[in-house]
Amino acid sequence: MAGTPAHEPDRVAGITRRAARVLDPTLPVLGVGMKMFHDLTGAREVIEALRTADTTSVASFVLPSFPLIAEALATLQATDTAVGAQDVHWADRGAHTGSVSALLLAELGCDVVEIGHAERRREHNETDEQVAAKVAAAHRHQLLPVLCVGEHEPADPDGAAAVTVAQLERRLAATTEAEPVVVAYEPSWAIGAAAAADTEHIAAVVVELRRVLRRRAPHHRVLYGGSVTPHSAASILACPGIDGLFVGRAAGDADGLAALLDVVRTHPT
Ligand code: PGA
Repeated sequence: MAGTPAHEPDRVAGITRRAARVLDPTLPVLGVGMKMFHDLTGAREVIEALRTADTTSVASFVLPSFPLIAEALATLQATDTAVGAQDVHWADRGAHTGSVSALLLAELGCDVVEIGHAERRREHNETDEQVAAKVAAAHRHQLLPVLCVGEHEPADPDGAAAVTVAQLERRLAATTEAEPVVVAYEPSWAIGAAAAADTEHIAAVVVELRRVLRRRAPHHRVLYGGSVTPHSAASILACPGIDGLFVGRAAGDADGLAALLDVVRTHPT
């Protein structure tokens, strides 16, 4: 039942042109996770701000709530900003009330899909096996997965790296090394917190994640997420091994988004 995508994205090696930009090593990435932050007016403000933003030197993506994906795709159709979902089911169809398939997201024209966010794992008890199956579902339908990993409890950098690397190995278990992946390193304790993890901690974990990625998924980018603000963005972007930022609250309105884009746009790659 392969359908025609509603917005006919151009494809590069299977994935959409806008997803391919997220993998472009010359572009810093800004991902916006809208979570369940907004009402309709607030969500439209963020999407409209992305429509008018200068993203020529930034690989941006936005993840609205499911009901607004089609509208975001239409609003952002003429832009470089990729659009995707905050979750996906591992099956292509079936009796899965309340879930959405990668098949449908791809048919709608989505570019990316977020998988395994700490809030989903916590509130919906998602297992690593389910997360791995969701990554495989994304690949089956040429969606670029944004795969979240990160330690649950504060730990020293070595401990955090060990936990996070093991998560990554398990969550990539159902995918082949030909498939691209964006990994978002998001320590759970730094999400929705007062401050981001410090840059030494981030760098120490990310160097180990990259070791796995070189072997398991050579086409990859690595983002940091967790309490990023326009103030902390530049130092995190300058962190060795970090290709971009994945932001929740600080990108939740037009002003915050503009301030973040200003930092990312001027970041030397
Ligand atoms: P936050 O969320 O920026 O609001 O901490 C980040 C995330 O969960 O990706």
